[in-house]
Amino acid sequence: MTTPPDHHPNAIEPQEPRAIPQRHCILICQHRSCLRTGSDQVLKTFQAYISPNLMVSASSCLGQCGCGPNVRVIPDDIWYCRVQPNDVPIIFEHHLQGGKPVRRLLHRRLHLQYDAYSYNAPKSENAGSDGEV
Ligand code: FES
Repeated sequence: MTTPPDHHPNAIEPQEPRAIPQRHCILICQHRSCLRTGSDQVLKTFQAYISPNLMVSASSCLGQCGCGPNVRVIPDDIWYCRVQPNDVPIIFEHHLQGGKPVRRLLHRRLHLQYDAYSYNAPKSENAGSDGEV
């Protein structure tokens, strides 16, 4: 007599599926226009946050030269523009940890859906009731 495979003494018990931590890659343009506006310091600041779930990489021109420093977050495909070093902790906390992109830094042309009704609104009207930045 054989024991059914699911009752085998060495069978592995099924477990609850575990949440796989979200992994991100941050690309920071290090080409001419972005370098002139301080993208090297933005890269350096992001590098302090490197972890198993966060890869940080210098990139060549991202094709958005007029609004650097430019930062692209993948796999979310979120584009930030005019990022300064003091924006990095906010991006880390709200987007990479909290899952909410930092609205005020979004590239306006590439993220129209985030900005269709608030483009000319004062910043205080842009803030969401849930603490969105
Ligand atoms: S130089 Fe940075 S996007 Fe082109």
